[in-house]
Amino acid sequence: MTDALSEPNLFPMARAARCPFDPAPELGHRMEEAPISRVRLWDGSTPWMITRYADARAVLADPRVSVDVSQPGFPHTNAVSKARDAQMKTLMQMDAPEHTAHRRLMTSDFMIKKMEVLRPRIQQIVDELIDDLLAGPNPADLVEALALPVPTLVICELLGVPYVDRAFFQRVAGALVMDEGDPAQAMTASEELNVYLDDLVERKNAEPGDDVLSRLAVEQYRTGAMTRREISTMGQLLLVAGHDTTANMIALGTAALLAHPGQLAAVRDGDPALVANAVEELLRYLSITHTEARRVAREDLQIGGHLIRKGEGIIVVKSIANRDPSAFPAPDRLDVRRQARHHVAFGYGAHQCLGQPLARVELQVVFGTLFRRIPTLALAVPLEDLTFKHQAVFYGVRELPVTW
Ligand code: HEM
Repeated sequence: MTDALSEPNLFPMARAARCPFDPAPELGHRMEEAPISRVRLWDGSTPWMITRYADARAVLADPRVSVDVSQPGFPHTNAVSKARDAQMKTLMQMDAPEHTAHRRLMTSDFMIKKMEVLRPRIQQIVDELIDDLLAGPNPADLVEALALPVPTLVICELLGVPYVDRAFFQRVAGALVMDEGDPAQAMTASEELNVYLDDLVERKNAEPGDDVLSRLAVEQYRTGAMTRREISTMGQLLLVAGHDTTANMIALGTAALLAHPGQLAAVRDGDPALVANAVEELLRYLSITHTEARRVAREDLQIGGHLIRKGEGIIVVKSIANRDPSAFPAPDRLDVRRQARHHVAFGYGAHQCLGQPLARVELQVVFGTLFRRIPTLALAVPLEDLTFKHQAVFYGVRELPVTW
């Protein structure tokens, strides 16, 4: 008989049908019995999988670990991401010092202080969308009514992308984040979006507004410091990462709270300060980035007693690291009162999510408003009937039918 733990199993592993909020059971077994082990990917490659919280943070903070997608051992998520990586280089595919220089260009736009200034506008957006929801048919799909429009409107206003064009870039984002998409089609869609953003940068340069793309057009493009394409590539990353992630967190977070009525009651009726805590716990518990964190060793490394050789691929499985009992006691329990802010749902180290201050404010406003304004909110179908996005880069639900 073969030892299951010595065999490189196919990654990603399937979640248990009845536990849609939990990582695949196999990941938990690995964390206990073989926390650093090999897995097999879609293309037959066998990178290392890191499961424990301490090892995950050690790898993600190690400057000998790289995001260089051109390395033969780099563990690509799927054929679409491999094709995209060959064509487009964003912050996520840059190592220092290039990464440091590009990221510095953007940090001021997403600072906590700036995001706090946006809070009243985000509150207004959420309130208006809830007004519309309540005035419309009951039941309704919360993805369409709230989860998708909140982050889409906010990122459009921040970047200076016309909201009327959302159907276009949401379609492109859809093509880029499906695991089983056609790489050629996804690349055509990605190029369409870049051409659209190239044109927008040109228009911002001619007539700047008070938004991020205008600032980049004036400070970087006009001065020759960056090409138009470099700015539109940055814009594409921010546009896609800035709406699809938070949208899935809103919908999946709502589904998780509706499935845990005691936790929902604490968020709805408790001290408003508890909402920020609940957001961190939901981020930890749901860890929606299915891609996890992909890296390649630039030098030989000793991690958790294992030798990872130069050139070998590494997948840091944040979703299971966020369920490590040594970092989060009783990790499989959703507990909105626990201190979970040290989770790795936004990653860790140099590539830690740039947009996390924005995501936090959006999630705090949504979860702090939705259940107070609609205390009777409930799923309109049994939880088992929801379609979970097992094949997508960001985990979530396709639709969330709710009633009140
Ligand atoms: C709940 C929402 C979000 C989650 C769970 C999330 C998660 C993540 C994670 C895990 C990473 C690191 C990936 C890695 O280490 O390989 C990341 C990076 C990034 N995120 Fe987010 N994100 C969210 C929202 C946002 C928003 C709203 C924006 C933009 C406005 C954004 C922009 C970015 C960017 C630009 C990076 C790349 C940073 C770098 O490589 O230096 N994210 N995100």
